[in-house]
Amino acid sequence: MPEAEVEKELTHPFAKRSSKSKEPDEELRWLRTYSQKHYAKVLKEIDRIMGDEESALYLASRHLIKAGGKLFRPSFVLFGCEAVGGDSEKALPIAAAAELAHVASLIHDDIIDKDDLRRGVPAVHVKFGVPLAILAGNLLIFKAFHSLTRVADTLGSDKVVKLLDVYCRTSIVMDQGEYIDIAPSDTYSTMEEYLDMTAKKTGWAFKGALEVGAIAGGGTEEEIKALSEYGLLFGMAFQIRDDVIGTLGKPSEIGKPTSDILRSRKTFMVTHALQEADRRDRIKLLKILKEKASGKAQEVVDILTKYDSFGHAEAKITKLIEKAKSNLSILKNTLAKKFLLKIADLLSERPLTILTAPHYP
Ligand code: IPE
Ligand code: IPE
Ligand code: MG
Repeated sequence: MPEAEVEKELTHPFAKRSSKSKEPDEELRWLRTYSQKHYAKVLKEIDRIMGDEESALYLASRHLIKAGGKLFRPSFVLFGCEAVGGDSEKALPIAAAAELAHVASLIHDDIIDKDDLRRGVPAVHVKFGVPLAILAGNLLIFKAFHSLTRVADTLGSDKVVKLLDVYCRTSIVMDQGEYIDIAPSDTYSTMEEYLDMTAKKTGWAFKGALEVGAIAGGGTEEEIKALSEYGLLFGMAFQIRDDVIGTLGKPSEIGKPTSDILRSRKTFMVTHALQEADRRDRIKLLKILKEKASGKAQEVVDILTKYDSFGHAEAKITKLIEKAKSNLSILKNTLAKKFLLKIADLLSERPLTILTAPHYP
């Protein structure tokens, strides 16, 4: 990966906007504090699950946990529980499981995508080698399953079966999403295929987190469905935002490579431009992407800009977020609901790295 190429500032329609970003206001401060409400407890629970074994396998498994992520998935489990009036203390092992499974997916995803930076540190396969990284991912997946079984004492075995069902169905769909993402594509996907991949790859992770949280909290069918639907749409918007920052951001700001162009990733913008471009630009764009041509990233951004693909990405995020939020109207007013509404609004404006991720400025 020609690092200099990726770090080079690309000029794009939002350059001005990001440099003019507002100082944290009251709203942002509240969101920042509230998003971290459960962090300490989740990390303590994860520490307990991972124990103190010092073998290379365990060091590799703890590598990204120690680097610190935004912890959205475990937080969403707990907010899902609170949003239906449940006691989120009881859902802590479920929240920890969501983060462990997510970290496993990141480890495997970085091997698949050949990305070498994650959460501001070397990817697990870079630091520990591919074989150990595969095993570490597997270990985390089974630690997550094991953690789910722990709530039998507090929530009952019937609930554990329900949770395992959601957990497995979610993971199976996410795996299909990753498969669509890596499937060789000479012609690139249609927008319909892109949205299907995005729903499966990322939407379902947020859907699953809120769903298990709401089940643990004793939510009604209607409440569980509302939170699941919110999660699916929020997660899709989250992935499109990730596509934008993976194309235009800087590794030092987001803690992972911004290599989507050089890696010829199936992003929202590329999918949109290939759909809208005239024949000449389409051929040019496909050629650059297929050759993974170093030094041509700006040309790609110029084509994406010409067809307003970034504008369409923003419009799609806004639309998904509005629809996501509308699902929450049936829920009682709680702080958890307020948080879910506000974090959705924030995502429609900017990357959520602004909330947390201690290493990223
Ligand atoms: C990264 O998820 C993978 C995507 C679905 C885009 P996050 O952006 O939540 O990553 P961490 O957990 O904070 O590192
Ligand atoms: C995100 O995949 C979905 C996962 C299951 C990790 P991406 O490849 O789009 O996400 P990043 O950019 O590596 O975090
Ligand atoms: Mg990736």
